[in-house]
Amino acid sequence: MSSDRIDAPAAAPILPPASIGIGARIKQFLPRTLEGRTFLIIVLPVVLAQFITVYIFFERHFSALSVELSRSVAGEVAMLIDETERDPAGRSQVFASAADTLDLEVEFEPDEHLVPDVRAHWNPLIEPILATALEERVARPFTIGAYGDDNWAEIRVQLADGVLDVRSPQRRLFSYTAFVFIGWVIGASLLLTWIAVLFMRNQVRPIRRLALAAENFGKGRDSMRLRPSGALEVRQAAAAFIVMRDRIRRQIGQRTEMLAGVSHDLRTPLTRMKLQLALLRKSEETEGLQADVVEMETMIDAYLAFARGEGGETPVRTDLAQSLRDVVGGLPGGDAVTLEIAGPIEIQVRPMAMKRCLGNLVGNALRYAKQVRVSASWHHHAVSIVIDDDGPGIPEESREDVFRPFFRLDPSRNVATGGVGLGLSIARDIAHVHGGEINLEDSPMGGLRVVLILPG
Ligand SMILES: Nc1ncnc2c1ncn2[C@@H]1O[C@H](COP(=O)(O)OP(=O)(O)OP(=O)(O)O)[C@@H](O)[C@H]1O
Ligand SMILES: [Mg+2]
Repeated sequence: MSSDRIDAPAAAPILPPASIGIGARIKQFLPRTLEGRTFLIIVLPVVLAQFITVYIFFERHFSALSVELSRSVAGEVAMLIDETERDPAGRSQVFASAADTLDLEVEFEPDEHLVPDVRAHWNPLIEPILATALEERVARPFTIGAYGDDNWAEIRVQLADGVLDVRSPQRRLFSYTAFVFIGWVIGASLLLTWIAVLFMRNQVRPIRRLALAAENFGKGRDSMRLRPSGALEVRQAAAAFIVMRDRIRRQIGQRTEMLAGVSHDLRTPLTRMKLQLALLRKSEETEGLQADVVEMETMIDAYLAFARGEGGETPVRTDLAQSLRDVVGGLPGGDAVTLEIAGPIEIQVRPMAMKRCLGNLVGNALRYAKQVRVSASWHHHAVSIVIDDDGPGIPEESREDVFRPFFRLDPSRNVATGGVGLGLSIARDIAHVHGGEINLEDSPMGGLRVVLILPG
């Protein structure tokens, strides 16, 4: 019999929480999902680019344009002042032509005095620019405010004999296109982001499906159908996964069939031998033979159990605490086992296979030690079952070997302890099928500590 075997793929090992460095701290703020990260990769540059564009636009274009507009209005105001002062009689004519040609409404209020302006600001963005331009061109006191609805700016200038009131429509001082531009920038980025998210979802979905299929297969729940879809690389990965899954299934199937066949075929002549031995007169030889036949039967049972390890069982929600109690109760010498289980521990498992796994582990402890302690608890979304004993333990260098089929440690090879050397192989097989793992450690009780971890 070959000891080469293909285990069902194990789930990712459960790692201890990493110590937190700077890199890890930055990572905490990064999205964990592919969708989130892709979103960040696409959206961050877009937002940054838009931000820079808008900033440069405002800094260069918008403020330069506003300065020019304000200067031209300020220049016209200065010209109107000149005209009014030069020829007070011709004022109304000048004002009329200003309304026609410059779009400015001008009035003169004789003997008025400028009062400090307490009105609401007309436009906090443009007002300071206009004020600077007026200071440059009109060397007189002035105020700026809103007129009518806010679409008009009113500039009042103190002259020697009254106040000149110039009202300019907003469009002469201010370019609306700037805000239309920002609107377009924001609108376009929102639209692009939305389209990117839609596309991204479609790209991530097949990856997620592949991950789920792999996870399910790892846990032995492979009822899911997987059809390669999505981008070329994802399709390739899915196709490779399907080929691998089929190969593993086929090999497991072949192994099971072969072992079952061999065991079955051996059982028939063994039964015959047992019958023939029973008919023979009892002697030392026949008793020895009988013991051998019994041992062979036990071995064949173990082979069959090994072959069935994969099992056609469907996983169901099971209380592991109860399974453990049943297993311990069913084992000869089970009284030596102390159970430490807080409450029910329900997870999805194949109940018969899981009982066999637990039976093998606790059975080993009982076989090789006197005192056994079993505890079960939740740890980071996984169940951990710890079996401690006070036996001879397993030396560090043999802890991998004992999982190999038919491997037994030398001191235990004597007939007294019995066994074929399949118990741990079967147990690990079952743990793997459930996406779990079995680790061997030193026990504080002096013997071996077996830790079975099962994802919840
Ligand atoms: N709790 C333990 N303490 C000390 N040695 C152990 C313990 N469990 C297992 N071993 C060692 O590991 C070997 C392999 O264990 P395994 O359960 O696979 O086979 P086995 O117990 O010999 O036979 P069986 O197939 O009947 O279980 C054992 O032969 C034994 O030497
Ligand atoms: Mg064993």
